[in-house]
Amino acid sequence: MPPPPAPKKTAHDEAADRILILDFGSQFTQLIARRVREQHVYSEIHPAGMSLEEIEAFAPKGIILSGGPASVSDEGAPDVDPRIFELGLPVLGICYGLQLMVARLGGTVEKAVESEYGRAHLRIEKSADRLFKGLSIEAEHVVWMSHGDRVLKLPPGYEILATSDNSPFAAIRHCERPIWGIQFHPEVVHTEGGRQILANFVHDICSCVGDWTMDAFIDASLEAIRDQVGDGLVVCGLSGGVDSSVAAALVHRAVGEQLTCIFVDHGMMRLNERQEVEKLFAGALGVKLVSVDASERFLTALEGVTEPEEKRRIIGALFIEVFEEESQKLGECDYLVQGTLYPDVIESVSVKGASVTIKTHHNVGGLPEDMRLELVEPLRELFKDEVREVGRALGLPDTLVGRHPFPGPGLGIRILGEVKRERLDPLRAADAIMLEEIRRAGLYDEIWQALCVFLPVQSVGVMGDARTYENVVAVRCVTSVDAMTADFAHIPHEVLARISNRIINEVEGINRVVYDISSKPPATIEWE
Ligand code: XMP
Repeated sequence: MPPPPAPKKTAHDEAADRILILDFGSQFTQLIARRVREQHVYSEIHPAGMSLEEIEAFAPKGIILSGGPASVSDEGAPDVDPRIFELGLPVLGICYGLQLMVARLGGTVEKAVESEYGRAHLRIEKSADRLFKGLSIEAEHVVWMSHGDRVLKLPPGYEILATSDNSPFAAIRHCERPIWGIQFHPEVVHTEGGRQILANFVHDICSCVGDWTMDAFIDASLEAIRDQVGDGLVVCGLSGGVDSSVAAALVHRAVGEQLTCIFVDHGMMRLNERQEVEKLFAGALGVKLVSVDASERFLTALEGVTEPEEKRRIIGALFIEVFEEESQKLGECDYLVQGTLYPDVIESVSVKGASVTIKTHHNVGGLPEDMRLELVEPLRELFKDEVREVGRALGLPDTLVGRHPFPGPGLGIRILGEVKRERLDPLRAADAIMLEEIRRAGLYDEIWQALCVFLPVQSVGVMGDARTYENVVAVRCVTSVDAMTADFAHIPHEVLARISNRIINEVEGINRVVYDISSKPPATIEWE
């Protein structure tokens, strides 16, 4: 496990109100943090075992105990310092958080014979509790449950606020102290009123004012970046993607000419990608940009290579080589900007504690660790949707800010077999047509990723009176929330027909288009 980064002055130091989320490993913990931030309240996720001193130093206005897969009676089950219940701070235990609270404070929890998973109907028994403000007490509310343990007896001093058919203790609270527990997950969209419950907790109960806005974030980060960098020289690798673009725009606004961006065109970019990056960064934003066309070098190195991992290795290593060469030409640089986001931070310090660490991908196109440059990571506190908001506030165009993910090795992994110019050109053209049609149909934002794959398989076709023998393009559009699982997008047939007609008519060398209807798992999003 890499050591946690040294504490730096960060943008949130300026935000007065913050909520601490102690993580017991639920797959929904990040969602809790995002929901709290949607209330314009800064929140951070830390391991459940955070010490009392660290908690006090963080100075939260309230604490949320997340759910988790363990059973409180398991040996070595994740625990909290019980003194957090004595701090006088509001505490909200969710699912495992509730069970732990009950078990530690003198109640009884047992392993249920059958776990409860999915929808349940919540009945609010006690009106006028602040946690349920705004929720009707007459109606039942659909809530999302996911637990194996169940509460048998409440600790002394607790009362029931709500019940469901299988959970007589679906919501509880301490009669005097500001401690609440709920068995269901308010952070998931399936829970009706979940957003309201979390809003009540952070605003009404914890008295957070809600001053965490992206404008405030930008102001604070400009200052933090200037403090960190002083008059040092900063370099940033642009990929054309959202994260590096937003990070570069932010650092540029903070330190202007001290920043130089490097864009390495490895020849496997999308149509006009390099030109667009140059137009936006060097043109509109006035950023010092070194744009290198290294396509010949990459394609030469890839000659004859067909094995996908080998392609990735070559592209990744050469990318670093070119980047280093270019940054050395700039003279002595002190800092390297990286578009690290909060989910990467949570993962890399294994804050998730007990949780199953989910790895999204091996990031080819990453930069060398031994460049001996200090990292500037202005987005390391943000979730992706917040990064997009910052991008918009900095004036980046929607087409960039809302872009689908694009892999570091680019079209190199979307050509099966050997990567050659005569395959890249038709793939780029087909990809541009497909994206244009997806956008025209208003589907772009509903889709996680839309891509074309070049299949070096020839089949017979007929064009006019002539017989053709040409290649196949596979179109792959998927819906997903995190790329871990994905479904093929159920695109209207008319849109597919337009994509297919146009590709076959307009792209030389392609006489057949197929649509990939596999889900992930067992397939993956990319074909490689
Ligand atoms: P798979 O194909 O494994 O892809 O289902 C999951 C997600 O990861 C992206 N991906 C990458 N992203 N560098 C990246 O930045 C890479 O090397 C890389 N490889 C795959 C892929 O596009 C999908 O969103």
